[in-house]
Parts: sequence; C-alpha cells; structure tokens
Amino acid sequence: MTTSPRSGRHFLQIPGPTNVPDRILRAIDRPTIDHRGPEFARLAGEILTAIRPVFKTGGPVVIYPASGTGAWEAALVNTLSPGDRVLMSETGHFASLWHEMAQRLGLDVELLPGDWRHGVDPERIGSVLAEDRSHRIKAVCIVHNETSTGVTSRVAAVRRAIDEAGHPGLFMVDTISSLASIDYRHDEWGVDVTVAGSQKGLMLPPGLSFNALSEKAIAAAKSARLPRSYWDWAPMLAANAKGVFPYTPATNLLYGLREALAMLREQGLERVFARHARHAEATRRAVRAWGLEVLCQDPREYSSSLTAVLMPDGADADALRRLILERFDLSLGNGLGRLAGKVFRIGHLGDFNDLMLAGTLAGIEMGLQASGRPLGASGVAAALGYLADPAEAPADRASAA
Ligand SMILES: Cc1ncc(COP(=O)(O)O)c(C=O)c1O
Repeated sequence: MTTSPRSGRHFLQIPGPTNVPDRILRAIDRPTIDHRGPEFARLAGEILTAIRPVFKTGGPVVIYPASGTGAWEAALVNTLSPGDRVLMSETGHFASLWHEMAQRLGLDVELLPGDWRHGVDPERIGSVLAEDRSHRIKAVCIVHNETSTGVTSRVAAVRRAIDEAGHPGLFMVDTISSLASIDYRHDEWGVDVTVAGSQKGLMLPPGLSFNALSEKAIAAAKSARLPRSYWDWAPMLAANAKGVFPYTPATNLLYGLREALAMLREQGLERVFARHARHAEATRRAVRAWGLEVLCQDPREYSSSLTAVLMPDGADADALRRLILERFDLSLGNGLGRLAGKVFRIGHLGDFNDLMLAGTLAGIEMGLQASGRPLGASGVAAALGYLADPAEAPADRASAA
C-alpha cells in the first residue's frame, strides 16, 4: 500500500540535501537583481564577510555556483601542478571519488587504504610524511565527515601529525557534510583549502560550493600549473573585492545564504553542533535497541551529521528504504559504493529538531516491523528516553528556525 496521493510533509532525512527552512525559501523567493549593480555589491560584501566565521577563518572564502564536486576540483587545480604527489585516505565513497578526480587531473596520488568504518589515521599520515624526506608530497587531502559512512575524521590530530613530521605540504579538507554541523576550525587547524557545499549544514538547496583559503594556498596558486579557468581563484578574488563575480553568480541562492548565515548567528554555531551531537547520540541508542549496528567503529569518530546503519548479512537495506518511502513518505540515504544495499543512512543535520528525529525514527521502526524483522526493543523508546531526560536537555530551544 502506498500513501499516494500524499498529504503532510515529506520527511527528507538523507544526509543532504537537508530540509530547507521556510525562512530561507522565503528569502530566495525574490526578484533577481542586476549582479553588477550597487544592491548586489552590498549583498556580496555582506555575505563574503559573514561567511568567514562559519569556517572559523579570517581569510577569503570563494563561492562558486556549483555543487561540491566543483569545489573539490577548484581546490586541486588552483594549488597543484601535473604529476604532483598527493596523499589521500580511503575513508569511504566520497574520499574515493576525490581520489579518482585527482588521478583524472594528472596528479600522482598515494591512497592509504581504509575499511570504510574508520576515519583518517593521523599516525599513518605522520609516518608517510616523515618518510617523504625530499618533500615530493605536495598536499594531504582528507574528508572531514565521510557522508557515505558516518565517520568523522580528527582534523586537528592530522594537522598535528603533519607538523610533527615537519612536512611543508598543503592541507586540504572536504567539509561538505560537516561545515555548520560539526566543530571545524580552518585557521586554528592550519587548513590551506577547505571545501564546502550549500546543501547540508548551511540548510540551502544544492548549487553553491566554497573554497576557504589560507595565505599559503593563495601563494601556491601563483605557481601551480594544472590548467584552470572557471575555477581560477585569482579573477574571483579580484572581482569579489569590488562586490562582483567574474561570471553570473547564483543570485537567489545568495539571498538564501544571507538568511542562513543570519540564522546560524542567531542560534550560535556551538549550539548547532551540540544539537546535532545530541540527535546523533539519540539515533545511535535507537539503532542499538533495534539490534542493528552503527557502521562507525570508533566512538571518537561518531558523526553528528548522520548515522550509517549496517543491516545484518543477507538483509537488503534498499528494500527496507523503499518500503519506508512508500509507506511513510520518509527518504533515507542509500548505501554508496561498496556499501550499496548493506547500509541505510539517517541524516540528522541541518534544520532539525527533537520531534523531527522522533518522526524519522518512528518511520524506520515501523518499516523494520513491516519488513518482518524481529526487533530487539523499541529504538524510538530508547531515543525518546534520552531526549526527554532533563540531564540531556539542550541549553535552550534547539531549532535554528
Ligand atoms: C563529503 C562529500 N564530499 C563531496 C560530495 C560531492 O558533492 P556534490 O554532490 O555536491 O557535488 C559530497 C556529496 O554528498 C559529500 O558528502
């Protein structure tokens, strides 16, 4: 049985794109203005300044009218030259895609293999860099939050490993599913290029992506020789200084970004991080009560943005997701790459609150029951018990809206 024709709101609990708050939808729903006029210059000036604290940087942030993949490419082509050696870690599907892109661009990539259940190993990075005495490695590129696995790598520990090895390579970090969801510090952690996207913690529709830049990255761009044109930082930074873009910007998404930044300021980033961490903990309690397994194996690396749930051998995670979508109008993330059919992913990032989580977990629990899977106990009861516990209450109302 399906619930068509649908009534009520669809539950979009994939780990991005996330639910776009009404306040942002209203902000986007305005006439597009002349992107070379004075009103646009004010908008651009405001956004290019207000975005910096989200990355915890005092440096420039480049905004592309592109999905996150564009910002990945921009990070590589602006800083590196053909044949340059790059160190990457195979933490999951997205790290693998970035690795494939780097190879296609003509970089010489050393990929540290991984089991897709752990994050980047700082010690391993440190020992590879310590052995690289001639400094052939020009950059270390990692994914902060692996959206395919729900594992968050320890960026500060990787930075320390680079420093302890005394290595001068650039440090690039993909924060596409962590920015504005999980603590991240571009300047303090000595990151040279941070890659981000609009459609997750920033609560916007897809279509914008970002590079936050260090001075070292800007200096590297002066001698880097990979071909670049659309992604070139230099004309972007020069145009941005005058309140314009070198090509037509995504004006209406920028209206939305201005609103999203205001919402994040009102709530406070630290409270957003705490809200997501609390929802992640409630979700893990539900998963364990159901008798299922959280894919991430190291509690230090549990993701606050999403939880990937491993189904028992032989169970089809996609069939469960299909049933839940048809019966309860709830979208969950699928297993990607080698995890296809084996896991489903629960997004708990973006504009999200306790009752949305309760609804999401209820949909999953009903789906598990409808599929005939014997449940250990009620995951919903386990999660609600945690959320209702006065000791676990958030400091104040937890919605960004
Ligand atoms: C961690 C991570 N990196 C890169 C990407 C690719 O971004 P996009 O699909 O916006 O091009 C994604 C997309 O979900 C992601 O989660």
